[in-house]
Amino acid sequence: MINIALPKGRLGDKVYDLMETLGYECPEMREDSRKLIFENEERGVKYFLVKPSDVAIYVEYGAADIGVVGKDVLLESDASVYELLDLGFGKCNMAVAAKTDFREDVTRPLRVATKFPNIARSYYESKNREIEIIKLYGSIELAPIVGLSDVIVDIVETGKTLRENGLEVRETIVPISARLIANKSSFMFKEDEILRIKDRMREVVGI
Ligand code: PRP
Repeated sequence: MINIALPKGRLGDKVYDLMETLGYECPEMREDSRKLIFENEERGVKYFLVKPSDVAIYVEYGAADIGVVGKDVLLESDASVYELLDLGFGKCNMAVAAKTDFREDVTRPLRVATKFPNIARSYYESKNREIEIIKLYGSIELAPIVGLSDVIVDIVETGKTLRENGLEVRETIVPISARLIANKSSFMFKEDEILRIKDRMREVVGI
């Protein structure tokens, strides 16, 4: 039995479609329900629906053998897992954005609002720029508009949220996409099955 942590939402739906194509279907997943665990004993697969930012935790602790997670979550959590495959979807950028008229005052620490404090900290450390982090949990784009921060470090996918709020990308930190990850001991004990899934995923997504 392979236990798979799927992020709830669009990314998870895409991953489930992929798993179904590979023969790891679980028709109950298509039903509209509040269930969090779905199992197909015959196919030897069990899915856990988890919050996207928690996928790496389930995999790191071995509650799930494998999972799919955005590279943003992996970088932020620094989880001790194997990263097996870049799935090439869920593409976006981690970027610094600011109001279009923002001019940086280099004589004081930069105030950075973000859901990703670790990514922001290591980025600005690499630039030797002193910052003050303001950790938020959503609607990050609001922070510079209302004067809570100078800039934001956030995910930019289409750029629509920035545009509609008078912000623009100032620096791109790192490109992001969905990654297949595995628990380290599961990878030892279930290596054949995990590698089979990885190889077939790679074929289907054409990487
Ligand atoms: C993410 C991200 C941006 C937006 C970027 O937010 O934090 O706000 O998507 O997408 P775009 O470039 O296509 O506009 P999410 O939808 O996860 O909501 P949140 O505000 O709760 O973080």
